[in-house]
Amino acid sequence: MAKLADWLRLVVLAGVAAVLAVPSFQAAAGVGLPKLERGKGEKCVEDTQFMRRNHMELLKHQRDDTMRKGIRTTKHSLKGCVECHAGSQSGSVAAGKDDFCMACHVYTGTRLDCWDCHATKPGKQSFFGTGAAAGQAAASPRNPAHNQGGGQ
Ligand code: HEC
Ligand code: HEC
Ligand code: HEC
Repeated sequence: MAKLADWLRLVVLAGVAAVLAVPSFQAAAGVGLPKLERGKGEKCVEDTQFMRRNHMELLKHQRDDTMRKGIRTTKHSLKGCVECHAGSQSGSVAAGKDDFCMACHVYTGTRLDCWDCHATKPGKQSFFGTGAAAGQAAASPRNPAHNQGGGQ
């Protein structure tokens, strides 16, 4: 009997491990998955699966490189994300909870402060550009949001 009990325990543990090991965010999210509109163009700037899991790192690294070392590559620019991922209805990545950069984050309870400064719509200037939005033009380009080691 002890043998059978051990065996059953193993089966249960294996099941739990399999559930915990679910690789993708969407699969892990289970029911009530955010429904995402497909981005423009053929593909994303990196492999889709990679983007699902690592886009935050790309944005932070890009951001840190831009801000600290003055390196500007455009491959992972936030502007690019907005250009390809703005919703066809709202024209924005973050106007409503169904928009691309909101859907998953609403689900995970992550709130982004990016849009205080960065445009959520293609072709719109961020506050630091010419023709600044929302009268925030006076903010320093060396803003505190980018000087805290890429945190929140
Ligand atoms: C307080 C204002 C402010 C906030 C908040 C802010 N940024 Fe920025 N961001 C800037 C400024 C200013 C620049 C520099 C723009 C430039 O050099 O052209 C910049 C540049 C960037 C760049 C490099 C340029 C580009 O278009 O790719 C990225 C990426 C970026 N920010 C991502 C983010 C993300 C992601 C968030 C939210 C987690 C965020 N920023 C929040 C002001 C802000
Ligand atoms: C040239 C257009 C383009 C740019 C620029 C772009 N994407 Fe994408 N993105 C796409 C396309 C197209 C897909 C869907 C690819 C697929 O279905 O395999 C996608 C998929 C994704 C996904 C996965 C969505 C899902 O269904 O799970 C994420 C997350 C993502 N992109 C984030 C970003 C971020 C963050 C940026 C900016 C750093 C960005 N993308 C820039 C076109 C783009
Ligand atoms: C497929 C789902 C999905 C999509 C689409 C998505 N994100 Fe995320 N994002 C996540 C997850 C999951 C996290 C990690 C949440 C956490 O750690 O709280 C995250 C975290 C982030 C973070 C780090 C937040 C922090 O406080 O550290 C940034 C920045 C970010 N996403 C930017 C974006 C931008 C910009 C877009 C739209 C171009 C976008 N994301 C679209 C799922 C997504």
